[in-house]
Amino acid sequence: MNIMLKPAGTGFLFLLAIGTGFWLSSQGKPFHTAVLTVHKLVALASAVAAFIVVRGLFKTVDPSTAVIAMAVITGLLMVALFVSGALLTLDSPVSDIIATIHKVTPTLTLVAVVATIYLIGKSNH
Ligand code: HEM
Repeated sequence: MNIMLKPAGTGFLFLLAIGTGFWLSSQGKPFHTAVLTVHKLVALASAVAAFIVVRGLFKTVDPSTAVIAMAVITGLLMVALFVSGALLTLDSPVSDIIATIHKVTPTLTLVAVVATIYLIGKSNH
């Protein structure tokens, strides 16, 4: 299989999660159930795919402390993304901080995943 297929697929799923997220918030509360379901499923699929890609790359190198630290940061950002997302789906109003976290973490997660993959690639040479 083309080695770029899995990372590219993961990136596509992540962009789809961001796209469905904007679609969801453009409709406001109460959220459209189908759009919310698609957003959650795509988000889950992208997180699982990212995990598989990074785990696969980890096996190809002897990970440095920087790589491990970046992977842990990525994991923590994903947890923040999912917890803030889950809180936003609650019926009761949630604090603006949660909404801000869910707005900022997608970009931070994207940067962190790319940085992790970049650092793994660098340690191969
Ligand atoms: C890879 C994971 C995810 C990404 C990249 C992502 C991305 C986004 C983005 C970009 C928005 C639009 C934010 C804005 O208005 O500027 C959004 C909204 C939203 N997301 Fe996610 N999301 C993810 C996971 C989740 C999960 C797991 C849930 C629920 C369990 C969730 C629930 C929501 C809800 C309810 C909104 C609407 C927020 C509002 O308008 O008040 N998200 N998401």
